[in-house]
Amino acid sequence: MPVFGDYQLEIYLKALAGVLPAWPVDFATLEQRAGAALAPDVLNYLQGGCGDEFTQRRNAEAFQSWGMVPRMMVDCANTDLSVSLLGMTWRSPLFMCPVGINGICTQDGHGDLAAARAAALTGVPLCQSTLANDMLEVVRPALGDTPGMFQLYTPKNQELAESLVRRAEAAGFKALVVTLDTWVTGWRPRDLNAGNFPQLRGHVLMNYFGDPVFRGMLAKPPEEDGAAAVRQWAATFGKVLTWDDMPWLRSLTKLPLILKGICHPDDARRGIDLGADAIYCSTHGGRQANGGIAAIDMLPDVVAACGDVPVLFDSGVRSGSDIVKALALGAAAVGVGRPYCYGLALGGAAGAAHVLKSLLAEADLLMAVNGYPTVGAVRAAGARKRSLF
Ligand SMILES: Cc1cc2nc3c(=O)[nH]c(=O)nc-3n(C[C@H](O)[C@H](O)[C@H](O)COP(=O)(O)O)c2cc1C
Repeated sequence: MPVFGDYQLEIYLKALAGVLPAWPVDFATLEQRAGAALAPDVLNYLQGGCGDEFTQRRNAEAFQSWGMVPRMMVDCANTDLSVSLLGMTWRSPLFMCPVGINGICTQDGHGDLAAARAAALTGVPLCQSTLANDMLEVVRPALGDTPGMFQLYTPKNQELAESLVRRAEAAGFKALVVTLDTWVTGWRPRDLNAGNFPQLRGHVLMNYFGDPVFRGMLAKPPEEDGAAAVRQWAATFGKVLTWDDMPWLRSLTKLPLILKGICHPDDARRGIDLGADAIYCSTHGGRQANGGIAAIDMLPDVVAACGDVPVLFDSGVRSGSDIVKALALGAAAVGVGRPYCYGLALGGAAGAAHVLKSLLAEADLLMAVNGYPTVGAVRAAGARKRSLF
C-alpha cells in the first residue's frame, strides 16, 4: 500500500535542486496565505463560523488535550492506511468534507471540479455538497476512480429531494450523506456584518438550476430570470427533518445512508435503529451552533453507541496528528473542510492535493514513529485525555 510519508522525502530532495514547496505544509501558514489570496467576502464565509466562533476554535484546540502513547520495536517499515468502509476501499481514512463554497474558492469559479481533481490526484474521496457551481453529473467523472459521496441538503419539496438523490445515484456517487444540522443557517457575524450570503447572490446553485424538478417550479428558467430562481431556492432550501422522516429518507436510496451532524449517542443509536448505515459526528466546523462542546470530545461517546456501525468524523482537524487522534478515538474516517479549501484557493486542484498529501504524510509518519502500522493498530492503541498545564 502507498507510503504517504514519502512526500516528506520528495520535498527535501526537490529542495536540494533549489525547488521549495509552492504551498506551505502547516495549517497556520496555509490559512495566512489563503487569507491574502481570497476575496474578503469569500474568505469571511470560508474562515468564519457561528457567534463569537468559540465552538469553531474549541474544535481545533480540543485536539491538544488528547495524546497517544508511542510503542517501540514494532515493524512499521510498511504502514497501511487503507480502510474498508460501506462497501468501498479507500487508500486512507481521510476524506474531503462537503463544502458548499468550493465553487468560488478558485478564481475560475470551478472549485468543485478542482476538488474532484484533487481527489483523483490523491485517492482521497470527496463528499460533494448539494451547493455547487458545477453540476454533480460533471463533478463525478472528474473524480476518476476515487470514490465520491453526495451530500444532500434536504429541500422542503419532496420531489426535488428525490430528484437530487436519483441524479447522484445515476452519476455514480457511492454513498448519500444527509446533513441534519443546517435546515436553517446559523448566526454568522462575519457574513452578517458584510451582508454576504453567497447563495443569495446566485452562487453555488447549479445542482438546483440544472434540476428538472426545480426548473419545473419556476415561471422562467434561471438563465432568463436568475433573481426569481434564487428566491425559489431560498423558499425551498431547508426541510425541518425529524425522526419521523427517517423511513422516507431511507426509502430514497439503496446507497449507504450516512447521517451528518450527530453528536449525541442517543441520536446515533436512534439513527442506526431507523436504518442509517453510518453516523457522521460533526459540529459543521462550528458554523451552525456556537457555545457547544468540541466535536472531538463528543466522538468517543458516539463511537461507543454505534457498536460496529462506522462513524465518520470532522470539525477542527488541522494536521496529520489530529487525523490519527480521531482514528484512535474510534473514527472510521476523518474529514477536513477548510484546510483543503485553502489549498484550492492557493493552487486549485494541485494546491488542494498538496494539502491532502501533507496531512497524510504527517499522519503516516506519526503512525510509523509511534509503532502503529495500520489504522486498526491506531484504534487498538486508543488516545488518552491529558491535563494541560
Ligand atoms: C465554507 C463552508 C461551507 C460548508 N458547506 C457545507 C455543505 O454544503 N454541506 C455540509 O454538509 N457541510 C458543509 N460545511 C461543513 C463541512 O462539511 C465540515 O463539517 C466542516 O468544514 C469541518 O470542519 P473544518 O472546516 O474545521 O475541517 C461547510 C463548511 C465550510 C467551512
